[in-house]
Amino acid sequence: MRKKLVAGNWKMNKTYQDSKKLIKSIGNNLDEDTLSKIDVVICPPFTSLSRARKLTNKSKINIGAQNMYYENDGAYTGEISASMLKALGCKYVILGHSERRQYFSETDFTINLKLKKAIENELISIVCVGESLEQRENKIQNQIVKEQLTNCLTAIDRKDFNKIVIAYEPVWAIGTGKTATPEQANQMHIFIRETIEKLYNQDVSANIKILYGGSVNENNSQELFNQSDIDGGLIGGASLKPESFVKIILSAIN
Ligand code: PGA
Repeated sequence: MRKKLVAGNWKMNKTYQDSKKLIKSIGNNLDEDTLSKIDVVICPPFTSLSRARKLTNKSKINIGAQNMYYENDGAYTGEISASMLKALGCKYVILGHSERRQYFSETDFTINLKLKKAIENELISIVCVGESLEQRENKIQNQIVKEQLTNCLTAIDRKDFNKIVIAYEPVWAIGTGKTATPEQANQMHIFIRETIEKLYNQDVSANIKILYGGSVNENNSQELFNQSDIDGGLIGGASLKPESFVKIILSAIN
């Protein structure tokens, strides 16, 4: 049985000061019993990572970054390395979010380089894939997601799949209030699992966690998480509202 995972992607929100209140109100509403049944990850901006780490030190809440660079160190102004994240106590990193692909020209190729570096540093990567509205309207969503998966996973060894989580995030559902229906999302998750089985084997595909992301909230999360192949969610907007985020987490274990 795959353990569910719920990750909050704060994006470019919350100052160092503001993050304390949000992390505390999430932490105060999740007991140890709940946190033993589900993996919870908080991904604040880089500037709040160390504070988030300190505030969650005694709990099972995990910390993740929203991005990283693929070189070890050197003259890369403005970038953050995998080892810097690891040294800070980060366990996870989000790679290839559609906003990074769209606004910062990330490609499957650079995501693949980042994934290799994250694995080397023992970070668990949440690798994002998903089609645009136009691609779905043209009914090429499966082809697009298959291509993204194949490229992002190039030369990744099957033994490293315990450090990879896939997040299916249809671009048309992110921050728009339009969620994929549970059936639509599950169909794609099944397709992702089949694609991974063809690329690797049945064992890898049966064990990999596949999250859904895109306008998940406390009202739609349970039905999404009840689907056979949806193993949790990558939550944007609703992860900034502690009551909603906690309800989403609880809905994954009910
Ligand atoms: P959203 O974002 O929940 O605000 O749609 C999800 C994401 O971008 O990860």
